[in-house]
Formats: sequence, C-alpha cells, structure tokens
Amino acid sequence: MSDPRAIGVFDSGMGGLTVLRALEARLPEERFLYLGDTARLPYGTKSGDTVAAYALQATRLLVSCDVKLIVIACNTASAVALTALMPAFAPTPVIGVVEPGAAAGVAATRNRRIGVLATEGTVRGGAYVRAIHALDAGIEVCQQPCQLFVALAEEGWGEGEIAEAAARAYVTPLFGGPDAPDTLVLGCTHFPVLSAAIARAAAPGVSLVDSAVTAAESVADALLREGLASSGAQGARTRFLATDAPERFARVGGVFLGRRIEADDVELVDLGAA
Ligand code: DGL
Repeated sequence: MSDPRAIGVFDSGMGGLTVLRALEARLPEERFLYLGDTARLPYGTKSGDTVAAYALQATRLLVSCDVKLIVIACNTASAVALTALMPAFAPTPVIGVVEPGAAAGVAATRNRRIGVLATEGTVRGGAYVRAIHALDAGIEVCQQPCQLFVALAEEGWGEGEIAEAAARAYVTPLFGGPDAPDTLVLGCTHFPVLSAAIARAAAPGVSLVDSAVTAAESVADALLREGLASSGAQGARTRFLATDAPERFARVGGVFLGRRIEADDVELVDLGAA
C-alpha cells in the first residue's frame, strides 16, 4: 500500500520550515503542504486560548486539503493545542514538536541540566518542563523566554551584530554559576536560524538541540504504523500556503528551508473561513 497524499505542516510563520527541512530529508518519498500563518505571527506573545483557536483553524484548513497527517511545527501551538487536536481530527494523526524536542534534550545532556529557550507562551505553560520530566524526573530544567529571536528570524537576521547582542542578553546569563546546563533545547522552531549566535553566547562545549530531526523520526514511525507511507512523490513535492505576504514568505523562507522558494509556489489563503 502506498498513500500519495501530502503531509500537512504548519507554524505561525517561517520557523516551521526548519522542521520541514528535516522532514524532506528524512522522507524523500513524501509530499508536503506547508502553511505559515504569517498574518497572525507571533503566536508566542498571545494567550493560550488564542493560539489554540488559531491552531484549530490551521489544522482544519490542512485537513480540508486532504492531507494524511498533520505536523504542528510550532512549539507554542503544540504546547497548547496538541492534546485537543489529536482526538478532534482522528484518525488523521497529529504530531507536535515539544515531545521530540524534549527527547532530543534528554538524549544529549550529560550533567542532567537542560536549558530551554522558547517563546514567552511556551515558557509560561511549562510544557517542556513536563515533557522532560516525563522522560527523566531528575533532570534540572531552566527556561528562558527569547521572544525577540522570533522577530529577528522572520526578518532574516539570524546572523550579525543584532542577533549576537540578543543571544548574549538571553543566553549568557544561564551560564553564570556552577549549576549551568550542558544542553540547550531550541524550543521554538524559529531559533535554529540563530544557532551560531546562540552557541557563541553559551559556554563552550554546550550541545544545542532542536526538535526537527526527532520530530521527523516520529513522523516516519507514525507513517509506517498507520500504513500511510508513500512509495514515490508525484508532481511537485512541496507546496506552500501563507496567510499574508506570500512574496515575502518566498524571499525570506529560503533561509529557514535551506533552499530557494519560488514566489509562484506560495499561495495566499484565508484562515478566517476555516
Ligand atoms: N515557531 C513558533 C514556535 O516554535 C512560534 C513563534 C511565534 O510565533 O512566536 O514556538
């Protein structure tokens, strides 16, 4: 059996393209439909109820496009909406990125101290602390909200003086004492584009992990388990939807995806009706 339908992936904006990049690499036979809710970004400063409502609309739109599995490539939305979306859209599997990110952090730490860099909303809800403690209750977790990283990433400013200064302001204080973490989880899908600046602001030798590769593994497992895998993509492999400024999405999105996005491949959609 081969299921040629696309996998739906969504984020508040372009950050989820860092997850799509790992999905494309891990699952070369699959097709993808990516939705960036660029009209309503950022999600990280909004209330949990608002983000959950946005995530429901994004999922509805992707399901109406006949996707076979949904990846919530946004930690902020995964943290508040995953448990409601999974039963609501069954049997379509819905996979979030917080558990995969937590698993990557737990696998990487040696001193059992993990720092989580995330949006204000993800930090406020404590989803990473719970997910890490579900795997190993003895790990110490410190959280740092880094909301400005989202704006810098969307601006295409993942490198340079401003990114370095922001990383120093947010990250360096975590390494002031003897209880410093040896692992930082990039708990927002926008943050991997700032990873060089974050690594320089952290103590030498600190491991930086994110959820992209582990999330792609979870998707691969789910496709096999549910009998949804494709044996060969037909036609265009990846299509993009954005709720605002599709030309900007195409111009800046390549930084996150690691390859060029053509303006003609990005379609404007309205989630208000979803
Ligand atoms: N990329 C998102 C995340 O992983 C959200 C960023 C935002 O919209 O604030 O949390």
